[in-house]
Amino acid sequence: MMTIRKTCLCILLIAMATGIALAQGSGISSGYPTPRNGFSVSEQRGHGLYLRYCVYCHGVYGDGNGDNAPFIDPKPRDFTIATFKCRSTPTGTLPLDSDLIHTLVRGVETSNMPSWRPLSDENRDDLIAYIKTFSERWKTEKPGEPIKIPPETPVDIASIRRGHDLFEKVECWKCHGQQGHGDGPSASTLTDSKDQPIRPYNFASAGNDGRFKCGVTNEDLYRIFMTGLDGTPMPSFADVIQPNDAWDLVHYLRTLQVNRRSKEREVLKAAGGPTTLKTPENKSENNSPANSTTLVRSGGR
Ligand code: HEC
Ligand code: HEC
Repeated sequence: MMTIRKTCLCILLIAMATGIALAQGSGISSGYPTPRNGFSVSEQRGHGLYLRYCVYCHGVYGDGNGDNAPFIDPKPRDFTIATFKCRSTPTGTLPLDSDLIHTLVRGVETSNMPSWRPLSDENRDDLIAYIKTFSERWKTEKPGEPIKIPPETPVDIASIRRGHDLFEKVECWKCHGQQGHGDGPSASTLTDSKDQPIRPYNFASAGNDGRFKCGVTNEDLYRIFMTGLDGTPMPSFADVIQPNDAWDLVHYLRTLQVNRRSKEREVLKAAGGPTTLKTPENKSENNSPANSTTLVRSGGR
């Protein structure tokens, strides 16, 4: 049974891949499920494209229960609740269309969500218009106001040191671990909003071309922890971290990506390496992370 279904999955995925090549620019609805009256032309085109490319994972009803879903971890997004990880907008708010478009172009790293770069811009616009029909939220709410990101501050050892202290102070380590390996005291207890187990990101896992789910630049990294990944235990820190301090944290996080070449790592190395960051004040905290586990376990979602 298992092998048969796995084979089916492969065939589906191959069919989808060739489908992309064959079907660019096409995509008036094939009519199943019958589009509701009142769909715009764009939504109708998006519907056809969705049935061709997305339905196997995200499901006919957009609830994330497509045929492939049982074999996929993390699960495909449920569009009926309109909760998205990758946003430029504050936690709890709807993303901008441009956020969703970026996600389609980029794909979602460390998940089965492919990049849809081969499609045309119009195809992507139509797909976004269509997936928004799955949730009433898009009719009753406006997307959030994008968070403001000040120009990046200089990368120097003082900034990295402040970022390190912030990582301690706001307790990123409880989930991500002291070295950012995704193995903090709370790591094994975490679940997402659909009760699926979820692991914190391991910064050391990134190779030299390492990407995050929600982007690749320092600005993307800034945005990730200042907007949070909605639907997961990864919270927004916009209320506790000041805009310029957030740049310090970005600089420190880059030094945790030990297999990725970066200015931040060079600066740290020149200053004597990671051990120079272990100040006496936070040593005791380092040694007894278990004390405060319960705090995050209850507060994380
Ligand atoms: C092979 C399975 C698969 C296919 C096909 C697929 N997706 Fe996804 N998609 C996923 C998974 C899995 C996630 C969740 C990733 C995560 O949570 O890290 C996702 C997430 C998303 C998200 C949410 C990103 C966020 O910020 O939370 C959007 C939007 C999306 N997909 C749109 C699409 C569209 C549009 C199509 C068709 C063009 C499509 N997907 C096809 C598996 C798929
Ligand atoms: C309550 C636990 C928890 C805390 C506290 C936490 N994180 Fe996370 N973080 C997570 C989880 C879980 C994920 C993985 C989410 C996913 O895979 O969708 C994650 C993912 C991330 C990612 C990767 C996102 C991507 O796009 O791939 C970054 C960067 C990150 N966290 C930074 C931080 C920083 C910086 C802090 C402290 C300011 C922090 N986290 C605090 C749980 C946490």
